[in-house]
This record gives sequence, C-alpha cells and structure tokens, in this order.
Amino acid sequence: MSKYVILGGAKLSGEVEISGAKNSAVALIVAALLVKDVCVIENVPAVSDTYVLMDIINQLGGSAEFIDKGVLRIDARLVDKFEAPYEMVSKIRASSYLMGALLGRFGHARVAMPGGCDFGVRPIDLHLKGFMALGAQYSVEYGLVDIRAEKLTGAGIYMDKVSVGATINVMMAAVMAEGQTVIENAAKEPHIVDVANFLNSMGANIKGAGTDIIKIKGVEALHGGTYPVIPDQIEAGTFMVAAAATRGDVLIKNVIPKHLDSISAKLLEMGVEITEYDDSVRVKCDGPLKKANFTTMPYPGFPTDLQPQMLTLLLSTEGTSIVTENVWDNRFKYVEELRRMGANITVDGRCAVVEGGGKLTGSPVSSTDLRAGAALVIAGLMADGVTEVYNLKYIDRGYESFEQKLRSLGAQITRRKDGEKSKDAGIA
Ligand code: EPZ
Repeated sequence: MSKYVILGGAKLSGEVEISGAKNSAVALIVAALLVKDVCVIENVPAVSDTYVLMDIINQLGGSAEFIDKGVLRIDARLVDKFEAPYEMVSKIRASSYLMGALLGRFGHARVAMPGGCDFGVRPIDLHLKGFMALGAQYSVEYGLVDIRAEKLTGAGIYMDKVSVGATINVMMAAVMAEGQTVIENAAKEPHIVDVANFLNSMGANIKGAGTDIIKIKGVEALHGGTYPVIPDQIEAGTFMVAAAATRGDVLIKNVIPKHLDSISAKLLEMGVEITEYDDSVRVKCDGPLKKANFTTMPYPGFPTDLQPQMLTLLLSTEGTSIVTENVWDNRFKYVEELRRMGANITVDGRCAVVEGGGKLTGSPVSSTDLRAGAALVIAGLMADGVTEVYNLKYIDRGYESFEQKLRSLGAQITRRKDGEKSKDAGIA
C-alpha cells in the first residue's frame, strides 16, 4: 500500500494536459462488447478501472490490449460468456454496465450485484426498470442479477430519477432491440453523449443524447471502428480548483471548456480569474477569495464529483459557505479527515456549513473515495506542514499520473510506502 507525502505551500504554476474521461472510458470499453468486431478506443486513461475492465473482457473470451499510449484495441468477436461473477466484477462500480451490454448482445446477462458505494447504497432499480420495459425478466440469486429476454423490443422509458448509469445501460441494451426506444428524463452528462457517439460510429442509431429525451432505433448489428474518448471534465475541474486553492496560475490543456461552465462560473463568483481558449482554460488567482454556496445537480449543474474538491477550496475563502449534495445520500464522509487538518465544517444530512478563513495544518488523512482523495491532496497543498494521504487505491482508479502532473506544476508531493517516514521522503 502507498501514500502521498505532501509539503504544503507551493503555488501551482505552468501547464498540465488532461487525460481521457474515466467515466466515459469505462462505459465505452464495456459497450465494445456489443460489437462482434474490433474496436479501437483512443485517449483511454491508464487508470486502474481501465485495467480491471480489460481483464473482465479477456475473461469473457474477448481480448483487450493497449497497442499504443492511450490506444486500446478491443476484439469482442470471440466473447462467448454472459456471466460476470462476483470475483470478476467486485472491484469496480462500472461493472453494472455489463448488464446492458451482455443483455444487448446475448439476450442474457448474469452479473454480480454492484456493491455499496463509498458514499451510500448503489440502487439499480432504474436499470432493471429499463430492461424490463424492453421485454426482459430478472431475478436475483446467489448474489447475481440474472436478466434475460426472448427478444428485446423498443419501448418508452421514463426515468424516475436522472441516472447516468441507468441511461447508459438502457441505451446499450436498446441499440439492437427491435423498434424504437425513447428514454425520458435521461442524464445529459458529457459521457452520455460520448457513449452515444461511440455507438453511432459503430452503426447504432441514437438521437438526442445530451438532452433529456434520447431516441434509439434498433439496428441489426454493430461494426467495428475507431473512437477517441473526450477529455475528463472532472480531472480538469480538479486541477482548476487546485490552481485556485494554491493561489497559482495554471493553463489546463486538452479540455472542452463548455463542459466546465458550472465550475468556471463558481470560481469566477469567488474572484478567480478564468480565461477560456479553444481547448484549454487558464486559472489564475493571487488574492483573497469570496465565499460561495453551491448545490450539486445532474449536468449541466455543478457536478457531484467535484463537490469534495470545491468544498475544500471554500476553506480558504473569507466567510461562511453552504454546500448542498443533491445527488448522493452520504458524500461528506471525507469531512472528518479535513477536520484532522483543522477545518471547521458542520454537516447536517445533505448540507455542509463551511467556515472559511481558518488555517489548515498537515496531518495523516485517509481517502474515503476517489474524489475525496483528490480533495485531501488539495487540502495538503493548501496546508501548513506535511500531509500524508493514505488509501491511494481510490485516486489510482480515476486520476492518471496524478502526482507527476502535480509535481510538474511545482507541487511538493511524492508517493511512498505506507510505513515509510515522511522525513525520509525528502519532503519535510
Ligand atoms: C456515475 O455513477 C458516476 N460513475 C459517478 O462518478 C457520479 O457521481 C454519478 O454518475 C453522478 O454523476 C461512473 O460514471 C462510473 P447515477 P452512477 O446512476 O451512474 C440514484 C466518480 O467519482 N439511482 O447517476 O452510479 C443513485 O443512488 C463516480 O467518478 C437510483 O436511485 O450514478 C444516486 O443518488 C462516483 N436508482 C443518483 O441516482 C438507480 O437505479 C445518481 O446516480 C440508479 C441510480
């Protein structure tokens, strides 16, 4: 097991290149199972979630391998299994996409129930509601969800809640169903559009992705092709917040500025300087920042996956801010870790009251999930003294070369074995 050792105080400056979107890549890699051909996906981030899914594809009879940096070749022609047991899928939440892809390809899927999230339960009732609307039946036995359909037939599906996973899963199950499927109250995240564009480039007929009504006309079969993953909105937002939190000046490259609108708007409100270019954004901050309130919402609202990072930034503003988490039931577990660093935050259900102006001091802290881990690193960059961030397996799931990118911007951060003393890390 390893940890980050961070000496706070450095102002981040320079340029950083954003990788492909993790939450898009994990869906595209699974969607390739629908294609009895070879798919080449470019700009795939080298994160642990990617490698876990590659392993799953190989275990199902297909082959998945990197043929160049970020270029993943998937050959699903020989995939002949529709069962993904617990030991195969327990490491990754995105395994729930196997339900839609295997059902869409074989008319049958047996996938282990996705486990509880790091921040609350992970229901799949909307996924199952969509599959049943398409003509499937399901049962849960021995920890596996068994979903089967004699024939998948297009249907109208209204999503009671906006769900990224359910929207993507139903889209995958519907691409070769007979007739038209209409998903209403669909999620509109950039990665939803990316999955639809990927499937369309492989011969599917999907319209309306990115709006709340998606129409899918079933086709006979899909064909192979090449497709690039979009830049990671959440990684880009994480670096924007880190630049502001350290009062730095950073050019964040390989982004789609439109995807960052809600983050840029909030940072501008706080007094951060934001300059947008075609495929990059510059974040500059050299003075006090004003407090700000925010509420997480499905896209295009403020993304829940940037809630921990933005809340951490609010600790360095003047005044009291209110953060409301509207997507997940319990996504403030990491606040306990920030309190070890001297943060003054009160949590009541889905609301957190953040007192700015205090000083953070370095401390050993532990990641509770992927984005909380990133927030604790930002807190370490802001803090006085040395911070050790444990449980890096979460950060490694979704951030490619995180410490290298931060170091290239001047951060004093290094990765060490858990037992190693910080002073040995040459940081303190
Ligand atoms: C995706 O999770 C992301 N994961 C999450 O990012 C992200 O936080 C979330 O979307 C919201 O944007 C991936 O893309 C791999 P949802 P997902 O279905 O699809 C409820 C990260 O850090 N719900 O949109 O599981 C659910 O409980 C991760 O990168 C149901 O009630 O999220 C939640 O409250 C963390 N029934 C809300 O909807 C269902 O059947 C949104 O969940 C499905 C979801």
